[in-house]
Amino acid sequence: MIMVAVDVYHGSSLSMIKSLCFVPSNGPMSPSLQANHCKFTYCMASTVPAKRAVKDGAQVPPQEQVLTGDSFIRPHLRKLSPYQPILPFEVLSTRLGRKPEDIVKLDANENPYGPPPEASFLFLTSYVFEALGAMKFPYVYPDPESRRLRAALAEDCGLEAEHILVGCGADELIDLIMRCVLDPGDSIVDCPPTFTMYEFDAAVNGAFVIKVPRKSDFSLDVELIAEVVEQEKPKCIFLTSPNNPDGSIIDDEALLKILDLPILVVLDEAYIEFSGIESRMRWVKKHENLVVLRTFSKRAALAGLRVGYGAFPLSIIEYLWRAKQPYNVSVAAEVSACAALQNPAYLETVKVALVQERERLYKLLQEVPFLNPYPSYSNFILCEVTSGMDAKKLKKMTVLLKYLQEDLANMGVMIRHYNNKELRGYVRVSVGKPEHTDALMEGLSRLS
Ligand SMILES: Cc1ncc(COP(=O)(O)O)c(C=O)c1O
Repeated sequence: MIMVAVDVYHGSSLSMIKSLCFVPSNGPMSPSLQANHCKFTYCMASTVPAKRAVKDGAQVPPQEQVLTGDSFIRPHLRKLSPYQPILPFEVLSTRLGRKPEDIVKLDANENPYGPPPEASFLFLTSYVFEALGAMKFPYVYPDPESRRLRAALAEDCGLEAEHILVGCGADELIDLIMRCVLDPGDSIVDCPPTFTMYEFDAAVNGAFVIKVPRKSDFSLDVELIAEVVEQEKPKCIFLTSPNNPDGSIIDDEALLKILDLPILVVLDEAYIEFSGIESRMRWVKKHENLVVLRTFSKRAALAGLRVGYGAFPLSIIEYLWRAKQPYNVSVAAEVSACAALQNPAYLETVKVALVQERERLYKLLQEVPFLNPYPSYSNFILCEVTSGMDAKKLKKMTVLLKYLQEDLANMGVMIRHYNNKELRGYVRVSVGKPEHTDALMEGLSRLS
């Protein structure tokens, strides 16, 4: 294997991007991954040009510069690209003149069944909405240790509560881990295409991101990860199983090889319930360098209430307790999550419904002439937009992608489309209820 190091100074952003290029290993690559000749890249995450004081086109000398608020902002944050939020569905519904509940929202992997109960599940005895309505002390700060919820989680996952920490979504825990682990200038390993918050939080925390792209089948390049760890000594690696956006899982062999490396492994299991494989939460008792993250957003449909949780070795969790915001989990979030856990039968029924629907959706997407869906272990399906297109027809593909997203949105169906280096020409569709699949297929048939 030949390695070429290239230093690129981005005049516009004043940031340094260093690419370490490896000759591609053997094996077929998808067209979009082929475009990515470098096997891994080392970069300060996405940046925008820093503003300079300019008057009448000329640079203002330092003594005449007016002090502006941004001069107080930490330099690496001044260069940070703003986070790209997705279009809120209330905004789309207003624009389309439809009720929010009439929008088929398949763009953010939410669970459309909602938390317990739904009309069809009224036989249940404990309800999230009821529990929220019965909150007695919303004017009192929440328990900083979320004791009730951690005890319920300990029972749910068979791991002692002392290993478990709860957060305002798994998102908060990703950021908290980085705040505890990374010094400015440290680096993390990211394996794109994957969940983009790892890169985003690394940038906020002033860390470099070493990108080790996944292989053409979206599996991890474990050998390259090992080389990178040896050469670059990154602090931690973020792995996602099932991976967002393709839905592939990491097998024990690959995970164990990575756990053998001198690096903190953060395994994000946000979608584990849909995979049919067991969570590795309990592995944290055996592996001092493993953290496992999970969430109530998907399994219990509580995305809006923001509750995530993580399993940690005792030698690590101690420091997260010290660094976390004391009241990071609201009373409403804790009450809802506890009520959800009291309804395992509901959670199971919803999971089974979504997994069954995923299989139906996959088969239907296979029949769409311009889509190539990937098998998924999660509650979403990644599709390559093909239409047998070669490079010459790329423009047509751009048009098709625009159609796919905009025309479907105009029909009230929201899906996610990608335009980044690793996934240009791909769309991701969340699994919804059967009627959501029907609306999507109807929309797609109008585009064919
Ligand atoms: C892989 C992955 N991890 C974490 C999250 C965020 O979870 P939470 O809603 O608990 O912050 C998501 C959300 O889509 C995700 O895809």
